[in-house]
Amino acid sequence: MTARRAAASGVRVIAIDGPAASGKGTLAQRLAAHYGYARLDSGRLYRAAARRLIAAGGTGEDAQAAVRAAQAVTAEELADPELGTDQVAQMASRIAAYPEVRAALLDFQRRFASRPPGGAPGAVIDGRDIGTVVCPGAAVKLFVTASLETRAERRLKELREKGLDSIKTRVLQDMRERDARDRSRSEAPLTRAEDAHLLDTTGMDADEAFAAARAVIDGMCT
Ligand code: DC
Repeated sequence: MTARRAAASGVRVIAIDGPAASGKGTLAQRLAAHYGYARLDSGRLYRAAARRLIAAGGTGEDAQAAVRAAQAVTAEELADPELGTDQVAQMASRIAAYPEVRAALLDFQRRFASRPPGGAPGAVIDGRDIGTVVCPGAAVKLFVTASLETRAERRLKELREKGLDSIKTRVLQDMRERDARDRSRSEAPLTRAEDAHLLDTTGMDADEAFAAARAVIDGMCT
């Protein structure tokens, strides 16, 4: 299924990209609920592949093993709470640099965009390359950012709420590493699509980010 056919199917796609802990996940969830659209967190596909690889004893250095893990990912495992750990996130970022891993996960994302589950009239998909590669024809594109400091604070709060003890310097370092890898890879790097609206959520809470995004989206459709 090509991106052009996905756009032609009449499904409205909201593509949200941005770095880790920028607020894009919460925003995607709220926008999907508000518009009655289906939501796909594409990072969970990469995380599911990473988790499979870790479980099989993989280190991420063998591209073929990473591709096999990506090819085996199913929709059912995307809800697995184990996908939320930093170990899985780092492995996901590492294997996401392999073009063949990205190719193996592309079809799932495009099928979701063209035929969202439950017959929803639209899809909200968040990730790193949704507006640039997965759905370049998306009706709305948002690029969500926040300062590194803000993102590290958010991530720390999230980890502590899950009962996981972490120190800020470690979270900052992990985030810096992952950002650098996601931005510098040659295939589908994290970057703002030319026609994406920039939403800097530094100093915004989730309600303010949601209101700002709705103002953009509703402004485009009236
Ligand atoms: O959004 P996340 O933190 O769950 O994503 C985990 C990793 O997966 C991220 O560091 C890079 C990769 N990823 C990607 O390369 N492309 C996407 N569309 C989504 C995630």
